[in-house]
Amino acid sequence: MPGAIYAEGLVKTFGDVKALDGVDLDVPEGTVLGLLGPNGAGKTTTVRCLTTLLRPDRGRAVVAGVDVLKHPNDVRRSIGLSGQFAAVDEYLTGRENLQMVGRLYQMRAKAAKARAAELLEQFDLADAADRPAKTYSGGMRRRLDLAAALVVSPPVMFMDEPTTGLDPRNRQLLWDVIKRLVSGGTTLLLTTQYLEEADHLAHDIAVVDHGRVIARGTSDQLKARTGGERVEVVVHERDDMPAASEVLRGFGKGDTTVEEHMRKLTVPVTGGAKLLAEVIRELDTRGIEIDDIGLRRPTLDDVFLSLTGHVAEAKDASDEQEPGQKAAKEAAK
Ligand SMILES: Nc1ncnc2c1ncn2[C@@H]1O[C@H](COP(=O)(O)OP(=O)(O)O)[C@@H](O)[C@H]1O
Ligand SMILES: [Mg+2]
Repeated sequence: MPGAIYAEGLVKTFGDVKALDGVDLDVPEGTVLGLLGPNGAGKTTTVRCLTTLLRPDRGRAVVAGVDVLKHPNDVRRSIGLSGQFAAVDEYLTGRENLQMVGRLYQMRAKAAKARAAELLEQFDLADAADRPAKTYSGGMRRRLDLAAALVVSPPVMFMDEPTTGLDPRNRQLLWDVIKRLVSGGTTLLLTTQYLEEADHLAHDIAVVDHGRVIARGTSDQLKARTGGERVEVVVHERDDMPAASEVLRGFGKGDTTVEEHMRKLTVPVTGGAKLLAEVIRELDTRGIEIDDIGLRRPTLDDVFLSLTGHVAEAKDASDEQEPGQKAAKEAAK
């Protein structure tokens, strides 16, 4: 039984660029899948195929129980899409934009009006509701874009890099909105270049690179693949290294690595901060003086680097925005 979003072997070629090279996905109902990958990985192309905007050359997709290639119109009725190409009319006000979407979905005028007011409040846009969208800052536009995708509560949502280029405050605001949405039972596929975002919002992460899913799992599972947590100790006296090594052996889950010249010992562990405290006590009991000790956990950055050999996050995400958003952002400065 496929999940709310299911894809099998999606292939899409543009000229001699293979944008998708056999993408498989399965998102259980009511969960969030984070599609994580660098620029050009194939995230947007995947979303466009799943939302009927683009026809894959090969493969199969089922969204909300409907075959995407056979019945695109039925799929469109069950999904919401926000992201790099969603339609916000620059010349309409925020309120008018939302009301228009409601009318497009055949809501009665009164219901569309009420829904718009509710969303403007929820997305912190009430004060700017009656200004044309072209006067909005980048963050406000993103929120309006997301609100527009939520006028009718769709069972399946797609968000293509919802927070790329946003400042931390706006990113946090969007994260809160997304969490609320998901707690209501919506299934969500979210693309992102931000490891922290995937970590924060997604139940499951699919790492994409060069049009393929190269790893799949929870954030913890992916992190565990790169070796899990470890304790690092720097002893004060080089002569104490053998004794310290013996202490670590008692706590470790694997071999201790010794970097003699730095007086540093590293050992894989499980047990987190509690275990760290025990290690410190034991070293102290044996009179081993330490310069530094810490628990190191792999980040998703480590995971991405070890999987692909390059870092995931764009250096300057704001360069990736479409001109309209960039202009709006400039105007807001
Ligand atoms: N309409 C298009 N025409 C030609 N090449 C495209 C088109 N859309 C995407 N591509 C190419 O396909 C690859 C994947 O793009 P995309 O899905 O936009 O990646 P992402 O969203 O992960 O940044 C890139 O190499 C991109 O240049
Ligand atoms: Mg993209």
